[in-house]
Amino acid sequence: MITRWCLLWLAFPAWADEGVFDQYRDLMGDDNPAIFVIDEGEEFWYQSQGPSGATLEACDLGLGAGVTRGAYAQFPRYFADTDRVMDIETRLIHCMETLQGRDRTVTAAKPYSLRGDFGTELEALVTWLAAESEGVVIAPEQGHLKERAMYALGEEIFFYRAGPHDFSCATCHEQSDKRIRLQQLPNLTDHHDAADAYGSWPAYRMSQGLVRTMGWRLQDCFRQQRWPGLTFGSEVSIALQTYMAVNAAGGIMTAPGLKR
Ligand code: HEC
Repeated sequence: MITRWCLLWLAFPAWADEGVFDQYRDLMGDDNPAIFVIDEGEEFWYQSQGPSGATLEACDLGLGAGVTRGAYAQFPRYFADTDRVMDIETRLIHCMETLQGRDRTVTAAKPYSLRGDFGTELEALVTWLAAESEGVVIAPEQGHLKERAMYALGEEIFFYRAGPHDFSCATCHEQSDKRIRLQQLPNLTDHHDAADAYGSWPAYRMSQGLVRTMGWRLQDCFRQQRWPGLTFGSEVSIALQTYMAVNAAGGIMTAPGLKR
């Protein structure tokens, strides 16, 4: 399998069209290279780190301290201890700070890898946690006032047009069966498309040889939208994730996905 993975990586031309990607996807079958990242993420969870020399095992991801199975599928959600709606990435940074004593200016400095990197701790943790929700129903919490406000904000941003091209997310993601160049554009206002898209991240990007998270995906779409860079862990990022997660609610988590 590793050989196939290496061949895939080497043989992968930047200009390949979706049809070629589909063929590679078929060739890969169940062999998603993300499985290595899942293992790495699990190791990070149980690794003593920081001034406190603690693991992340006491981290409460919303279902109680240390409960990882199914937790990803309920993000973003409100946490009373921070009085904030958090996505899984900001929650992990919070746990690294409170449990391990690690400085968030360091842990959040480079959440996502650059091309050519081997992946970050955060990407690995998020990938493992998503895999801990594989087959689980997407069910973001919407009981708290702040959770509903986050959804409303996300919806507003999704349709907000700005930037040099006057694009909103909706410009590219409000219609079904559309493509840009050769890439399929999911209709994120439609439940089925939203569920397929939301539930399949984090995903292994074949063209980059890296696992990417939903937080990264949004930063990259901000770039495609020609908007100023999206700040990691910002309200805007969490609001957009809430909007998509709620539209996807009832769908099934299939991550880690395998993408172009
Ligand atoms: C200029 C068009 C454009 C705009 C505007 C845009 N995107 Fe995208 N988006 C894309 C393209 C193209 C892809 C597929 C990328 C690929 O395959 O490399 C994509 C992929 C995605 C995906 C992953 C879908 C999947 O099935 O895996 C999500 C989620 C997403 N965009 C969300 C957003 C959000 C939220 C916004 C607004 C902040 C936004 N996008 C703005 C073009 C755009």
